[in-house]
Amino acid sequence: MVEKVLLTREAPFHTLKEYRAEGGFQALEKALKMSQEEIIAEIKRSNLKGRGGAGFPTGIKWDGVRKKTADILGFPPKKYLVCNGSEGEPGTYKDRYLIKKNPYTLIEGMAIASYAIGTYGAIICIKEVFKKEIAILQRAIGECIDAGLIGDDAMGSGQALPLEIALGPDSYLLGEDRAQLEVIEGKPAWPRAKGMIPVEYGLYGQPTVVNNVETLATVPHILRNGADWFKTIGTPDSPGTMIFTLTGDVNRPGIYELPLGTPLRTLIEVYGEGARPDRKIKAVFSGPTNAVIPAHKLDTPLDFGSMRNIPSGLGSGGFIVYDDTACILQAGLNFSRFLAIESCGQCVSCKSGTGRITRRLELLESGRATEDDVLSIVAECQQMKGQGRCFLITEEGVEINSLFYHFPEEVAEHLEFGCLRKRPLVLPKIKDFDESTHTFIYDEAYYDRSLAEGRHILYPT
Ligand SMILES: Cc1cc2nc3c(=O)[nH]c(=O)nc-3n(C[C@H](O)[C@H](O)[C@H](O)COP(=O)(O)O)c2cc1C
Ligand code: SF4
Repeated sequence: MVEKVLLTREAPFHTLKEYRAEGGFQALEKALKMSQEEIIAEIKRSNLKGRGGAGFPTGIKWDGVRKKTADILGFPPKKYLVCNGSEGEPGTYKDRYLIKKNPYTLIEGMAIASYAIGTYGAIICIKEVFKKEIAILQRAIGECIDAGLIGDDAMGSGQALPLEIALGPDSYLLGEDRAQLEVIEGKPAWPRAKGMIPVEYGLYGQPTVVNNVETLATVPHILRNGADWFKTIGTPDSPGTMIFTLTGDVNRPGIYELPLGTPLRTLIEVYGEGARPDRKIKAVFSGPTNAVIPAHKLDTPLDFGSMRNIPSGLGSGGFIVYDDTACILQAGLNFSRFLAIESCGQCVSCKSGTGRITRRLELLESGRATEDDVLSIVAECQQMKGQGRCFLITEEGVEINSLFYHFPEEVAEHLEFGCLRKRPLVLPKIKDFDESTHTFIYDEAYYDRSLAEGRHILYPT
């Protein structure tokens, strides 16, 4: 049974020669002999879903752009492919890990996507602070251009497949696809209005596909081995694998590629080697995006449908585990602070709402909140869902509300005594991963730096 697609070998691919020796670029060679329609039909048949958070079917997105014969003003379109390499979600490190292990499979996937969509330009957008990954990508892209695999005449096919890198700020919103397009155009990372979807109005107003690193890196494997092979891995709803980042209160945090449909409990207990001695898992967060997963739901399969049904979500595959010594409200407060800082302020209900909730959670932690504060948090969370230009405001509403729903006894305890679990929890904003010791390095200067940069929480007076 196939268990891994992307991380099949431990050692990183250091050179193009190594990658080609293991079949690299055979998929692009095959793709260049196929029509655009045939490639997209194969990706649609594979039921590949985006690994960036929303789980949107990749083939449908590609087809939407391929079929565009005019831009929004009715002129012949210049289509774009953008690879979202911003990876800003706390608890996630899989895209950087993948780039470090094998940048070539991403480049090959982008070349295939560019050809299938009929793009004018392809861009990897990555945070300027990801220095190591940028250097790896620059070198690998240079090698591929020098070898004639991409560039003006890809593999002697007469097909131009250019590829560039765009650098962006260390902001969570750089990962939001419409904000990312603004950044590539030289503007701040502020999401565009809701209706401006990239397939219709993307980079420079042109039809654009935005896909996550892992999504694009999976494409060569599907083309080389076929959609039927891909569908033997994972579940019918969610074929293939996903690279999970496991952090928090487990014995062996790490990055694990597993078939979709693997129970969350297996990720935590088998791969993460479970909770520390004499402790029990209390709850798991899939980043700041989704509802918290209480311990009694650990048998849920890690696939898009099952996670949605419990209800939570796969997010970008980052799972942060807390045991019974952790304060669940403090964990929520960390996420709420993060979202309040990252909120760009274009929508009043978001900037002031995340600020108000954060403030009330702080009062609750310190034992100074009233029942009215609790009722206000829950009411505000309800009102936030679906508001605003982007999903950030909904993330706050969904996640914080879920804490009050699943852990009412802990809320009551806080109202009476304040926090009784004095263990400080860090925001799991990952800076690096030491594979030899299975240790994640967190960005501990995040809050101070954000304030120094003028990115603040809008507290109520
Ligand atoms: C606030 C916010 C942050 C996001 N951050 C990321 C990110 O860091 N990386 C990513 O691939 N997608 C991120 N997304 C999702 C993207 O908007 C988009 O759905 C995704 O890049 C599409 O790629 P996919 O179809 O391959 O999943 C974010 C969305 C929101 C609302
Ligand atoms: S919802 Fe929040 S983060 Fe998104 S655009 Fe509005 S203010 Fe900015």
